[in-house]
Amino acid sequence: MLVAGNWKMFKGPSETVAFFDAFDPPLGVDVVVCPPYVSLARAVGRGVTVYAQNVHWDAEGAYTGEISARMLVELGVEGAIVGHSERRQYFGETDETVARRAEAALDAGLGVIACVGETDDERASGRTEEVLRRQVAVLPRHERLVIAYEPVWAIGTGRTATPAIAQEAHALIKSLHRAPVLYGGSVKPDNAVELMAQTDVDGALVGGASLDPESFRAICVAALV
Ligand code: 13P
Repeated sequence: MLVAGNWKMFKGPSETVAFFDAFDPPLGVDVVVCPPYVSLARAVGRGVTVYAQNVHWDAEGAYTGEISARMLVELGVEGAIVGHSERRQYFGETDETVARRAEAALDAGLGVIACVGETDDERASGRTEEVLRRQVAVLPRHERLVIAYEPVWAIGTGRTATPAIAQEAHALIKSLHRAPVLYGGSVKPDNAVELMAQTDVDGALVGGASLDPESFRAICVAALV
Protein backbone atom coordinates (compact mmCIF):
# COMPACT_ATOMS: atom_id res chain seq x y z
CA MET A 1 0.00 0.00 0.00
CA LEU A 2 1.14 3.51 -0.86
CA VAL A 3 -0.29 6.61 0.77
CA ALA A 4 0.71 9.94 -0.78
CA GLY A 5 -0.13 13.40 0.54
CA ASN A 6 -0.53 16.14 -2.06
CA TRP A 7 -0.22 19.42 -0.20
CA LYS A 8 -1.12 21.50 -3.26
CA MET A 9 -0.38 25.22 -2.60
CA PHE A 10 -0.22 24.82 1.17
CA LYS A 11 2.71 24.94 3.62
CA GLY A 12 5.80 27.04 3.06
CA PRO A 13 9.18 25.97 4.49
CA SER A 14 8.47 26.70 8.16
CA GLU A 15 5.07 24.95 8.17
CA THR A 16 6.76 22.03 6.43
CA VAL A 17 9.31 21.73 9.23
CA ALA A 18 6.50 21.88 11.79
CA PHE A 19 4.62 19.10 9.97
CA PHE A 20 7.60 16.77 10.01
CA ASP A 21 8.33 17.55 13.66
CA ALA A 22 4.82 16.26 14.45
CA PHE A 23 4.43 13.47 11.85
CA ASP A 24 5.10 9.92 12.93
CA PRO A 25 4.41 7.57 10.01
CA PRO A 26 3.52 3.95 10.83
CA LEU A 27 5.82 1.13 9.70
CA GLY A 28 4.66 -1.15 6.89
CA VAL A 29 3.18 1.41 4.53
CA ASP A 30 4.93 3.41 1.83
CA VAL A 31 4.37 7.08 2.58
CA VAL A 32 5.03 9.93 0.14
CA VAL A 33 4.65 13.64 0.84
CA CYS A 34 4.37 16.17 -2.01
CA PRO A 35 5.03 19.73 -0.74
CA PRO A 36 5.22 22.89 -2.88
CA TYR A 37 8.57 23.39 -4.65
CA VAL A 38 9.85 25.96 -2.15
CA SER A 39 9.37 23.50 0.72
CA LEU A 40 10.94 20.42 -0.88
CA ALA A 41 14.40 21.02 0.58
CA ARG A 42 12.96 21.10 4.12
CA ALA A 43 11.02 17.88 3.55
CA VAL A 44 13.94 15.84 2.20
CA GLY A 45 15.83 13.89 4.85
CA ARG A 46 12.93 13.67 7.32
CA GLY A 47 12.45 9.90 6.89
CA VAL A 48 9.60 10.10 4.38
CA THR A 49 9.79 9.87 0.58
CA VAL A 50 9.35 13.28 -1.02
CA TYR A 51 7.76 13.93 -4.42
CA ALA A 52 7.18 17.22 -6.24
CA GLN A 53 3.72 18.16 -7.54
CA ASN A 54 4.82 18.56 -11.15
CA VAL A 55 7.95 18.30 -13.32
CA HIS A 56 8.96 19.63 -16.75
CA TRP A 57 9.94 17.39 -19.70
CA ASP A 58 13.18 19.13 -20.64
CA ALA A 59 16.39 19.02 -18.61
CA GLU A 60 16.73 22.80 -18.79
CA GLY A 61 15.65 25.65 -21.00
CA ALA A 62 13.65 28.83 -21.39
CA TYR A 63 10.54 27.68 -19.50
CA THR A 64 9.72 30.36 -16.94
CA GLY A 65 8.19 28.92 -13.81
CA GLU A 66 9.04 25.29 -14.54
CA ILE A 67 11.33 22.81 -12.73
CA SER A 68 13.19 19.90 -14.34
CA ALA A 69 13.57 16.32 -13.19
CA ARG A 70 17.32 16.80 -12.93
CA MET A 71 16.80 19.68 -10.48
CA LEU A 72 14.52 17.54 -8.35
CA VAL A 73 17.05 14.69 -8.32
CA GLU A 74 19.78 17.08 -7.22
CA LEU A 75 17.62 18.09 -4.25
CA GLY A 76 17.01 14.49 -3.15
CA VAL A 77 13.39 14.45 -4.34
CA GLU A 78 12.41 10.94 -5.44
CA GLY A 79 9.48 11.54 -7.75
CA ALA A 80 6.69 13.79 -8.98
CA ILE A 81 2.96 13.90 -9.48
CA VAL A 82 1.99 14.60 -13.10
CA GLY A 83 -1.37 15.41 -14.69
CA HIS A 84 -3.24 16.41 -11.58
CA SER A 85 -6.74 17.56 -12.56
CA GLU A 86 -6.04 21.02 -11.15
CA ARG A 87 -3.16 21.33 -13.65
CA ARG A 88 -5.42 20.05 -16.43
CA GLN A 89 -8.26 22.44 -15.41
CA TYR A 90 -6.36 25.64 -14.63
CA PHE A 91 -2.97 25.40 -16.34
CA GLY A 92 -3.64 23.88 -19.74
CA GLU A 93 -2.16 20.47 -19.04
CA THR A 94 -3.06 17.98 -21.78
CA ASP A 95 -2.71 14.21 -22.17
CA GLU A 96 0.30 14.90 -24.37
CA THR A 97 2.13 17.13 -21.88
CA VAL A 98 1.29 14.71 -19.05
CA ALA A 99 2.92 11.90 -21.02
CA ARG A 100 6.01 14.00 -21.76
CA ARG A 101 6.40 14.99 -18.11
CA ALA A 102 6.00 11.38 -16.98
CA GLU A 103 8.56 10.07 -19.49
CA ALA A 104 11.16 12.69 -18.58
CA ALA A 105 10.74 12.05 -14.87
CA LEU A 106 11.07 8.28 -15.31
CA ASP A 107 14.12 8.73 -17.56
CA ALA A 108 15.77 10.82 -14.84
CA GLY A 109 15.22 8.05 -12.31
CA LEU A 110 12.24 9.59 -10.53
CA GLY A 111 9.02 7.84 -9.54
CA VAL A 112 5.78 9.17 -11.02
CA ILE A 113 2.20 9.39 -9.77
CA ALA A 114 0.12 10.10 -12.88
CA CYS A 115 -3.41 11.35 -12.20
CA VAL A 116 -6.46 10.46 -14.25
CA GLY A 117 -10.16 10.96 -13.63
CA GLU A 118 -13.44 12.14 -15.13
CA THR A 119 -15.33 15.36 -14.41
CA ASP A 120 -18.90 15.49 -13.11
CA ASP A 121 -20.20 16.23 -16.64
CA GLU A 122 -18.22 13.39 -18.16
CA ARG A 123 -19.63 10.93 -15.62
CA ALA A 124 -23.18 12.28 -15.99
CA SER A 125 -23.02 11.88 -19.77
CA GLY A 126 -21.71 8.31 -19.57
CA ARG A 127 -18.21 9.14 -20.79
CA THR A 128 -16.19 7.98 -17.75
CA GLU A 129 -14.78 4.91 -19.48
CA GLU A 130 -13.88 6.81 -22.65
CA VAL A 131 -12.06 9.51 -20.63
CA LEU A 132 -10.13 7.02 -18.52
CA ARG A 133 -9.15 5.00 -21.59
CA ARG A 134 -7.85 8.15 -23.29
CA GLN A 135 -5.93 9.42 -20.25
CA VAL A 136 -4.38 6.04 -19.41
CA ALA A 137 -3.43 5.23 -23.03
CA VAL A 138 -0.69 7.90 -23.15
CA LEU A 139 1.02 6.87 -19.90
CA PRO A 140 4.38 5.12 -20.21
CA ARG A 141 4.74 1.51 -19.12
CA HIS A 142 7.30 1.60 -16.33
CA GLU A 143 7.86 -0.08 -12.97
CA ARG A 144 8.15 3.30 -11.21
CA LEU A 145 4.85 4.60 -12.61
CA VAL A 146 1.82 4.65 -10.31
CA ILE A 147 -1.61 5.85 -11.48
CA ALA A 148 -3.96 7.82 -9.23
CA TYR A 149 -7.67 7.66 -10.04
CA GLU A 150 -9.05 11.00 -8.91
CA PRO A 151 -12.61 11.66 -10.05
CA VAL A 152 -12.67 15.45 -10.40
CA TRP A 153 -16.11 15.69 -8.76
CA ALA A 154 -14.69 14.08 -5.60
CA ILE A 155 -11.70 16.41 -5.16
CA GLY A 156 -12.03 18.86 -2.30
CA THR A 157 -15.80 18.42 -2.29
CA GLY A 158 -16.34 15.88 0.48
CA ARG A 159 -18.17 13.83 -2.20
CA THR A 160 -15.97 10.74 -1.98
CA ALA A 161 -16.54 8.07 -4.62
CA THR A 162 -18.35 5.11 -3.10
CA PRO A 163 -16.06 2.11 -2.68
CA ALA A 164 -18.01 0.42 -5.50
CA ILE A 165 -17.49 3.34 -7.90
CA ALA A 166 -13.79 3.45 -7.05
CA GLN A 167 -13.44 -0.30 -7.49
CA GLU A 168 -15.14 -0.22 -10.90
CA ALA A 169 -12.85 2.55 -12.18
CA HIS A 170 -9.73 0.94 -10.72
CA ALA A 171 -10.58 -2.40 -12.34
CA LEU A 172 -10.95 -0.66 -15.71
CA ILE A 173 -7.63 1.17 -15.30
CA LYS A 174 -5.90 -2.05 -14.30
CA SER A 175 -7.26 -3.77 -17.40
CA LEU A 176 -5.51 -1.05 -19.43
CA HIS A 177 -2.22 -0.64 -17.57
CA ARG A 178 -0.13 -2.72 -15.17
CA ALA A 179 0.61 0.05 -12.66
CA PRO A 180 -0.64 0.16 -9.06
CA VAL A 181 -3.67 2.45 -8.79
CA LEU A 182 -4.25 4.87 -5.90
CA TYR A 183 -7.64 6.41 -5.14
CA GLY A 184 -7.86 10.18 -4.57
CA GLY A 185 -10.76 12.50 -3.84
CA SER A 186 -11.93 13.44 -0.32
CA VAL A 187 -10.06 10.58 1.37
CA LYS A 188 -10.41 11.06 5.14
CA PRO A 189 -9.51 8.95 8.17
CA ASP A 190 -13.12 7.74 8.42
CA ASN A 191 -13.49 6.48 4.83
CA ALA A 192 -9.92 5.35 4.12
CA VAL A 193 -10.26 1.77 5.41
CA GLU A 194 -13.29 1.00 3.28
CA LEU A 195 -11.78 2.54 0.12
CA MET A 196 -8.43 0.81 0.50
CA ALA A 197 -10.17 -2.51 1.21
CA GLN A 198 -11.32 -2.66 -2.43
CA THR A 199 -9.52 -5.33 -4.47
CA ASP A 200 -8.01 -2.96 -7.01
CA VAL A 201 -7.27 0.00 -4.73
CA ASP A 202 -3.54 -0.01 -3.97
CA GLY A 203 -3.40 3.07 -1.79
CA ALA A 204 -4.53 6.68 -1.62
CA LEU A 205 -3.59 10.14 -2.89
CA VAL A 206 -4.75 12.49 -0.16
CA GLY A 207 -5.24 16.24 -0.45
CA GLY A 208 -6.76 18.21 2.43
CA ALA A 209 -6.45 15.45 5.02
CA SER A 210 -2.69 15.16 4.40
CA LEU A 211 -2.04 18.65 5.77
CA ASP A 212 -2.61 17.64 9.37
CA PRO A 213 -0.01 15.19 10.75
CA GLU A 214 -2.61 13.34 12.87
CA SER A 215 -5.19 12.82 10.14
CA PHE A 216 -2.52 11.89 7.58
CA ARG A 217 -1.08 9.37 10.04
CA ALA A 218 -4.57 7.92 10.59
CA ILE A 219 -4.95 7.40 6.83
CA CYS A 220 -1.53 5.75 6.67
CA VAL A 221 -2.60 3.43 9.51
CA ALA A 222 -5.84 2.66 7.60
CA ALA A 223 -3.70 1.31 4.77
CA LEU A 224 -2.39 -1.38 7.12
CA VAL A 225 -5.86 -2.79 7.94
P1 13P B 1 -8.82 16.13 -1.45
O1 13P B 1 -8.35 14.93 -0.65
O2 13P B 1 -8.64 17.42 -0.72
O3 13P B 1 -10.20 15.92 -2.01
O4 13P B 1 -7.83 16.23 -2.71
C1 13P B 1 -7.59 15.11 -3.48
C2 13P B 1 -6.48 15.39 -4.42
O5 13P B 1 -6.64 16.14 -5.36
C3 13P B 1 -5.17 14.77 -4.17
O6 13P B 1 -4.31 14.94 -5.24
